[in-house]
Amino acid sequence: MPTWKATACSCSNIAFIKYWGNIDERLRLPANGSISMNLDGLGTETTVEFRDDLECDVATVDGQEMTGAALDRISRHLDHVRAMAGQSLRAAVTSRNNFPAGAGIASSASAFAALSVAATVALNVVLSERQLSCLARLGSGSAARSIPGGFVEWHAAATHEESFAESFAPADHWLLTDLVAIVSRAHKSTGSTEGHALAATSIFQETRVKDAPRRLALCKQAVLACDFDQLAEIVELDSNMMHAVMMTSQPPLFYWSPTTLALMRSIRQWRASGIGVCYTIDAGANVHCLCAPGDEQVVSDRLSSYEGVLEVRRAGPGGPARVVTG
Ligand code: DP6
Repeated sequence: MPTWKATACSCSNIAFIKYWGNIDERLRLPANGSISMNLDGLGTETTVEFRDDLECDVATVDGQEMTGAALDRISRHLDHVRAMAGQSLRAAVTSRNNFPAGAGIASSASAFAALSVAATVALNVVLSERQLSCLARLGSGSAARSIPGGFVEWHAAATHEESFAESFAPADHWLLTDLVAIVSRAHKSTGSTEGHALAATSIFQETRVKDAPRRLALCKQAVLACDFDQLAEIVELDSNMMHAVMMTSQPPLFYWSPTTLALMRSIRQWRASGIGVCYTIDAGANVHCLCAPGDEQVVSDRLSSYEGVLEVRRAGPGGPARVVTG
């Protein structure tokens, strides 16, 4: 029996300037550009095997068989790759995350980046990094940013081909650390896909989107100059602006827990006392604490004894998505 099989792995990423809201939901064309850092060691490894004995796609994630909407999302993504290859073969997908589910670390970014690489390699579809980033974006917006390595910018654009992510500094450019303070393991009540669709119902979204080029420029400048103070101010402002939109959407989305807010306040105090640390929060309660090189240990010590922090996970800057075997 002929088989077409490949394995790929990808890091998750943390956005410094956030993606929230699309101008095209189906193509996941974002309302604004975003900037992120790949997270080394927090990622997904995925094997895709196209087989002629399968009648439908099957997928397991961390040993659990996918059904319903989760399987459909994978299947629809594979359809894009099948169309490129002129193939109709169904596939068996096996995916593993090296961080626990419900740890509040976005798995869709690394999952759809790894799936895109594995599926294209398995069917011998040769794509550039830019084309792979566009493909990954169709599965999950933030996955576009997990294709290139290091510090990455995803461009907002009006067409599929123009909205891609590219690296603007390699992983070893600046040894920032992301300490993820897990304050809740509960699954979020409103997933990001649903949340993006509500963004435009907030009167603040237009202002947030209009100001995005300024924030992107400041953030990029801060990363390129390794200027932690400038990075901290813009990253916290951007996270606050996204949450302001979330909280004023109809219906409103409240992702923070009391510990989230307590940490935000503490982190600002720690920074005022000279520690290089800032916060950023995605669509959940957990707090990503970005630490300047050399300040990771003191922050880690404080987080591990912080009331309400269940666990702390650590990641440095990570590389691009890559083929493991294929
Ligand atoms: C708050 O990429 O998870 O983490 O495209 O629907 O899969 P989908 O959404 P997703 O959205 C991420 C939102 C965010 C901010 C960010 O990572 O930029």
